[in-house]
Amino acid sequence: MNRRLCRVLLVFVLALSGGGVACAAGPGDSKAVTQTNGLWTDKNGAPTYHIGTDGSVDWGTFIGFLRYNDTCLRCHGPDGAGSSYAPDLTQALTQIDYAQFIAAVAGGIKAVNTAQQLVMPSFADDKNVMCFIQEIYTYLRARSTGAVGRGRPAKTAPEPKGFDEASYKCLGIPQ
Ligand code: HEC
Repeated sequence: MNRRLCRVLLVFVLALSGGGVACAAGPGDSKAVTQTNGLWTDKNGAPTYHIGTDGSVDWGTFIGFLRYNDTCLRCHGPDGAGSSYAPDLTQALTQIDYAQFIAAVAGGIKAVNTAQQLVMPSFADDKNVMCFIQEIYTYLRARSTGAVGRGRPAKTAPEPKGFDEASYKCLGIPQ
């Protein structure tokens, strides 16, 4: 459910019943538990980052940084920090979970009732985004917890085997 809608509903339900309604309260523990083909997931199976003992970020997080810069930076600003046009994603990602993130990116958002018409386009048909949605999420999740700072990650773990092949396959690039 849209977070804003959920908040509105929450107020409404509380007024009616004095009871509660479940609103997703962020992604939960970001600890990396499992690795598959170089991409890490948390205990709930949601993508997450992994910081090595030498401070290096995992390859997926690094790719997420590059893909974020390609597509999202022009509205959401450098490092996910927000702009006058689009919200700070380092804050947003403490509030929404992976499913809500995908819904926003794939579906887009059209803000109504604002003086300024803010539009987040739908990226559902953009393979340069959807083929790397896990990586983009992972990067922004790392930004939202402060595990990754501003700018290009200084150190990156080696590229996992088969990573490029999987990307090419998703993008439909013959090898
Ligand atoms: C053309 C500008 C534009 C681009 C490009 C864009 N966004 Fe957005 N995005 C917005 C705007 C504006 C909003 C806020 C809409 C609203 O008012 O609710 C938004 C909202 C979001 C939200 C919801 C935040 C929340 O608080 O729930 C997420 C998540 C998000 N964007 C992720 C992304 C990602 C990831 C990319 C790159 C793949 C991206 N956006 C590219 C303009 C953009």
